[in-house]
Parts: sequence; structure tokens; C-alpha cells
Amino acid sequence: MKTIIEPFRIKSIEPIYFTTETERKQKLAEVGYNLFGLKAEDVIIDLLTDSGTSAMSAMQWAGIMNGDESYAGSRSFYRFEETIKKITGLDYIIPTHQGRAAEKILFSIVGGEGQIIPNNTHFDTTRANIEFSGAQAVDLLNENGKKPDFIADFKGNMDVEKLRDFLTENAEKVPLVMLTITNNSGGGQPVSMENIRQVSEVSKTFGKPFFLDACRFAENAYFIKTREKGYEKKTILEICQEMFSYADGMTMSAKKDALVNIGGFLALNDGVLAQKCRNVLVVTEGFPTYGGLAGRDLEAIAQGLEEILDENYLQYRIRTIEYLGEKLTKAGVPLILPTGGHAVYLDASKFCKEIPSWQFPGQSIACALYIKGGIRACEIGSVMFGKYDEDGKTISPDLELVRLAIPRRAYTQSHIDYVAEVIIEVFEERANLRPFAIVEEPPLLRHFTAKFQEL
Ligand code: F0G
Repeated sequence: MKTIIEPFRIKSIEPIYFTTETERKQKLAEVGYNLFGLKAEDVIIDLLTDSGTSAMSAMQWAGIMNGDESYAGSRSFYRFEETIKKITGLDYIIPTHQGRAAEKILFSIVGGEGQIIPNNTHFDTTRANIEFSGAQAVDLLNENGKKPDFIADFKGNMDVEKLRDFLTENAEKVPLVMLTITNNSGGGQPVSMENIRQVSEVSKTFGKPFFLDACRFAENAYFIKTREKGYEKKTILEICQEMFSYADGMTMSAKKDALVNIGGFLALNDGVLAQKCRNVLVVTEGFPTYGGLAGRDLEAIAQGLEEILDENYLQYRIRTIEYLGEKLTKAGVPLILPTGGHAVYLDASKFCKEIPSWQFPGQSIACALYIKGGIRACEIGSVMFGKYDEDGKTISPDLELVRLAIPRRAYTQSHIDYVAEVIIEVFEERANLRPFAIVEEPPLLRHFTAKFQEL
């Protein structure tokens, strides 16, 4: 059949509370036009993030009851460890409370002053943890990955030649090479198996360990299966096993492709490094067989990791994003194409050409989406990454984007139809979009708490 249906039935529901446009206008003004300031119950469709917002399955909830809460040697840890070993083949599995905790532990050991860590595109928390350690984070994304509407299969790929040149020049400063699958900061774009293999080979040539930031590894594997020659007949598990076979280690936020609301882990092959990581773990997270998580969380992660490998689920998942992208493209709405694995990214500069980057076009669109239809999206542009030069002028990032991240298994097709309808209406009325100014901001990570004024 042509219709791809949600591969689940709904057993437990949460109500959505409806607000009127007038109420939303008032609520947004009350929080200084910062969508992070809203109460979640004042949001109709929450697309702020796909992280920690998944709906768990009946089997995961059963796992929650079944979790073994022993301080040491919990049965749930051994299930967690065994599942991750089966998928990744990595030897040492270290649970953490979320992805950035794994990053923090890793970079507090291998980072530090003078070190440089290359990636296709570092996610903000990875960059922050690297920089916090005193090291430097460098992005080596391929050129096509930087062009919003350039159609290519694997726009998340690292530029292998650039990596080779980079390592030739800086080898002694590089403790490891990283690759983020899928590339969240670059539009949720996938990385090909060929690229994973080549990056691994170049890293090995220079004697450098190769790590995957693997939050969305299963979504990436599905793209490999459907877009890369030779993988059509392989199972998702086989593709994942091959992806990880090239890696010496990984960091993981289980809040994405492990379908849970909290959790993460670090996995690696180097026993000496693993011991150092566990030494930090016991101080900052917990004993190595729970590491910042309850036994029930380990159980839910293990179950989620089994479920994410289901091809019917992944087909529905990737199709959902593509379906939203197609509806928007048909209406002329500019976005990053092709759509990636977990979100649709609107191209805000093209969406409202009249608003210059220093007056925050993405913020303007995100506010309009909330007022029009109660949708909460996330600006990824000058609000999030803008900096000031010495004269107080805004330096903007390359792209002004609005991310609509789709939580896993939480919304149905009619929710997505509604989202498309709201975005298209805001697009048709784009002449009414207002520029914004920041009236209050903290020194760091301003997008979370800054206050805005409509101009
Ligand atoms: N790496 C990537 C690629 C991510 O997308 C995230 C989180 C992390 C690491 C950190 O994981 O949140 O568990 O500490 N991304 C979320 C997002 C926050 O909305 O994209 P965490």
C-alpha cells in the first residue's frame, strides 16, 4: 500500500490544551518573546527538540517496573551492556545521565589546552565540553553540506581531504577524530558508510582513535540502507554493526535513538582510556554499573535500542519528516533539502527576506508559528550563535534557521498536517513578520533566557 502508517497503536495518551491566538500573544509577550520561557502546557505542538521527548513503548514501561535498582552489579546494567555490545561491538560500556555527560568525561581526559578535535559539525554541547577543557573544536563538513537547498544523499559527510590535510598539519595536537551521525547542526543530514570508513581509515593512518557521536545512529543507518549502493538488502542491525566496526569509541545521548526520556553512554575499545573514564565517572556520575541512571532507565534504554532497529519504525520516522518537507516545498516554503532524519529546518533568511540577520528573522518566524498555531520551534541562527564584534555589531552565523524537531512516536499524521498548515499560513503572510531586538541577555547561551522586543 502507498500509505505509510504509524507502526504502533496508542495505549496511553496525554491531553493537548488549546489556547486562542489572543491568549498566545499575551503569553509570548509575558515571557519576552522567548519560546523557552513558555509553560509547555501553553504549547499545542511542541517541536522544540526531539531529545528526551519520545513516547516509550509498553515494553519500555514494563522495563521501568522491572528495573533492578541494586547499587552495584544490577541486572539491568548487564542487559544494557549486552544490548549496546551487540549493536556496536565496542568493549567497554559506561552509562551516563545524558549525552553531554559522556562528552564531559571524555574531553576532560583527552581534551585540554593545545588539543584540537575535528568533527563534521560539532553539536553545541560537544563544542562546549571541548572548549571548556581548554581544547579547540574544528568543523570539517563537506562543502555541499553547507548549501541549504543543494540536493545530495549524504550532506553530513566530512570532507576527507580536508581531514587528511588537517591531520598532516596538526597531528600531534589531535587526541581523536569525531563524526556526528546524523549531523544535527548541519540539518540532520546523514553520513554515508563510505565516509565513515574513509574517515576511520585516515584517522588510523595518523594513529588517531575515531569516535562517533551516535545520538541518531539508527536514523543514519536507515538513510544508508535506502540511499547507498550495496546496503539495500542488509538489516538495520547489520548496517549499524558495520558503522560501529570502524569506530574506536562513541558518545551517545540515549534521549534520541534509544527512545527514552533521559540517559546516555560512552562506549570504547581502549581499556586504559575506559578505566580513566570510569575514574571520572565515579566522582561525577556514579558507580560504573549505573553511572547517573536508575536501573529502570538502563532497562528502558536497552529495550529502546532493540526497538529503534525496526525498519518499519524507521521508514515511518524518516517518511514523517520527508512528508512535512514535501508539503512545505510544494507551498514554496524555503527549507534545508533534502530533509534530514529528525527535523525540518526552515531557511529563515529566504523565508523573510526583509528582516536582516541582526534583527533575527528566525526568532520572528518562531514567534509567529507560536502565535498562529501554538507550535513551538527553535531558532538556530543569530539568536543562538550570533556574537558581537568590538564595536557591538552582530556577527551572524552562515545560516539563519528555524528547526522543527519531531519527537519520536509522539505525534500522528494529523498533527503533522496541522504543523504544515500553520507554517504555510505564516509563510503566506510573511509580509507581516516583524523584526526583533534583544533587550536583555546573559553572557553565555543567550538563546535560553534572552528577552526580546518586537520592532
Ligand atoms: N550530540 C548531538 C548530535 C546532539 O544532538 C545532542 C543533543 C547531544 C550530543 C547532547 O546530548 O542532550 O543528551 O546531553 N541534542 C539536543 C537537541 C539537545 O535538541 O538537538 P544530551
